[in-house]
Amino acid sequence: MIRICSTEDVPKGTVISADVDGTQIALVHGEDGQFYAVYDECSHAAVALSEGEVEGCTLECWLHGSRFDLRTGEPTGLPATEPVPVYPVEVRDGDIYVSLTPSNGVTR
Ligand code: FES
Repeated sequence: MIRICSTEDVPKGTVISADVDGTQIALVHGEDGQFYAVYDECSHAAVALSEGEVEGCTLECWLHGSRFDLRTGEPTGLPATEPVPVYPVEVRDGDIYVSLTPSNGVTR
């Protein structure tokens, strides 16, 4: 697992982008208090999901409004139909770590 930042760097309900060994990820602090990481590109068109809005346990694409469930990577609404890769996140001693092996089996 790779250390990204401190938990304090990502307030609840916000998202940041991070380059993890050359992979762009969107790191989210969900409104449920959990941290999530997904590949930082919408599966509909190549725009950054980290520029979208956090809603509960979803991240909304700013361009056409598809929402991605951060636990499964699946879009909950059109126009996106394909899931995005979800990366395992661990919090240790106030730091956030991410693994680049997708937990939902989706590769980019
Ligand atoms: S680019 Fe994200 S929904 Fe269209």
